[in-house]
Amino acid sequence: MTANPKNKITIITLRRHKRIGQKTVLVTAYDYPQALIADKAGVDAIIVGDSAGMTTHGYKTTIPVTMDEMINHCEAVSRGSQNAFLIGDMPYMSYQPSNQVAIENAGRFIVSGMDCVKVEGAMIERVKAICDAGIMVMSHLGLTPHTRAKLGGYRVQGKTAQTTKIILDQARKLEDAGCSFLLLEAMPREPAEIIANELKMPIYGIGAGDKVDGQLVIMHDLIGLFWEFKSKFVKRYCEAGEIIQTALEEYSQDVREGKFPTKENFYAIKDEELEKLLGDSSWKYEKLRVENLATPSHSVTPITSKNKKLNK
Ligand code: KIV
Repeated sequence: MTANPKNKITIITLRRHKRIGQKTVLVTAYDYPQALIADKAGVDAIIVGDSAGMTTHGYKTTIPVTMDEMINHCEAVSRGSQNAFLIGDMPYMSYQPSNQVAIENAGRFIVSGMDCVKVEGAMIERVKAICDAGIMVMSHLGLTPHTRAKLGGYRVQGKTAQTTKIILDQARKLEDAGCSFLLLEAMPREPAEIIANELKMPIYGIGAGDKVDGQLVIMHDLIGLFWEFKSKFVKRYCEAGEIIQTALEEYSQDVREGKFPTKENFYAIKDEELEKLLGDSSWKYEKLRVENLATPSHSVTPITSKNKKLNK
């Protein structure tokens, strides 16, 4: 794979999107193949979210996710993505304790290949400290899963004039602190639109209506690989879980019925080697004539047209 730096989405691209009214497309990814596919699909930005804890590790919330787990996901994503703008989600207690802790952990995300980090809540001091260290920050307001207990659960935010004004005020302070982007989660569209219009930085939404500067959906929600719950704002574009299950059922059936593996999957042995191996023995084997099949010099699986496309 060759990277073309001209295609790399940067903060300049994302600011231009806002200026010209072009919607930005964001999606989560947690590993190499997801990043490769998201990049080939042409999404603008990938968030390596700590939702990985729920979608891929099976935790009930994002709270137990560790820095080491996140860095592992970020490294895999950065190997898979050439063009998308990459945002690493700082996990619970990786930024809250002190500015020093926040800067050190944000730095680990950048070393892992991320362009920017995401921090939940109105953490003005922390955001300023990370930005002053030269690291771009996306803040996350509205429904913030790290403080879900304080919010009384996973509830829609900004439903009153008063709470919207608080969120708008927090957003302004974050922008003044140096924050480059804001993600609004689970808010009615009107307050989200007002916030997007009031601020200079790009404002993205996950469940915040259609009037913000771009949309984020968790990939596992979008492709049908998460079944614990489905939020109102999620649109499923396919049922990948069902597709994978069908493939595995067909594979199981083929193995059980002796339909896999077949000739195309076998490696050949030269006749004279087979004769040497057998000698006078009475070992049992079923002779298969595999015409014109040279002994392969290595054991690489043929590349299908699909993964050829991804490896271009
Ligand atoms: O963890 C996550 O995926 C998130 C998204 C809302 C970005 O925080």
